[in-house]
Amino acid sequence: MSLLLREHDLARAFDHAACTYDSLTSLNPGYHTDLLRSARRLRLPDDGAGLHVLDVGCGTGASTRALLRAAPRARITAVDASAGMLRRALAKPWPARVRFLHLTAEEVTAAGEGPFDAAFAAYLFRNVTDPDAVLSSVRTLLRPGGRISAHEYTLSGRRRHRALWAAVCHGVVIPAGTLTGDRALYRHLWHSVIAFDTAPAFAGRLTRAGFTGVRVAPVSGWQTGMVHTFLARNGPSPARTTTARERVR
Ligand SMILES: C[S@@+](CC[C@H](N)C(=O)[O-])C[C@H]1O[C@@H](n2cnc3c(N)ncnc32)[C@H](O)[C@@H]1O
Repeated sequence: MSLLLREHDLARAFDHAACTYDSLTSLNPGYHTDLLRSARRLRLPDDGAGLHVLDVGCGTGASTRALLRAAPRARITAVDASAGMLRRALAKPWPARVRFLHLTAEEVTAAGEGPFDAAFAAYLFRNVTDPDAVLSSVRTLLRPGGRISAHEYTLSGRRRHRALWAAVCHGVVIPAGTLTGDRALYRHLWHSVIAFDTAPAFAGRLTRAGFTGVRVAPVSGWQTGMVHTFLARNGPSPARTTTARERVR
């Protein structure tokens, strides 16, 4: 039996885990600081004034909060596949320019959302069935030159980071998840990182998807070598009239 959960099974697992998700992530030193760093790496000008930003796979809103702190004047649309995670997000106080939608990453384009000036995806891509298709639809949703910051568990490729990831999962993450009744989800977390791209491979995937200026930045602390920020732009833009939105380019 595969340890990986996908689509409805994954959404159901997150629905169940939603009530303990914030407590468990608060035990992870650096979780919120690293999200904020990756959101700030979008370098949105003017505190995001006049910009529309997508948070794809927003969960209980931790990444949305990071975006809001990085760009306090931006309009933010946050989407997630799990109704349970979204309920937790919605229970928190938000300004009116932040809205949450129950949509999968795969459904955002067909729902008529966008265009967006930037997209943030924290811990999303290794969870989707077809990351290339989701990258392609994020590109469709972004204005030409729009920015993406993907914050993801991606191993460096070094043996010691792979060993540390296994030790953390088997020593802490899976036992904690077992106590909350979410063993399958946290086994999925362990295995999805092993099965997903290394950091250089995901950077290559972004480039192949048509993103330009792809950069990989490490996070600090114990997750160094296991979590990275991937920054890129929605590349070649067609000839067009210059607009204020081009400030994000
Ligand atoms: C590990 S959580 C991260 C949540 C949040 N971004 C954060 O940083 O705390 C991953 C989230 O991605 C969502 N997710 C997984 N696959 C998805 C998909 N195909 N479309 C939208 N959301 C998805 C899950 O429901 C879950 O809430």
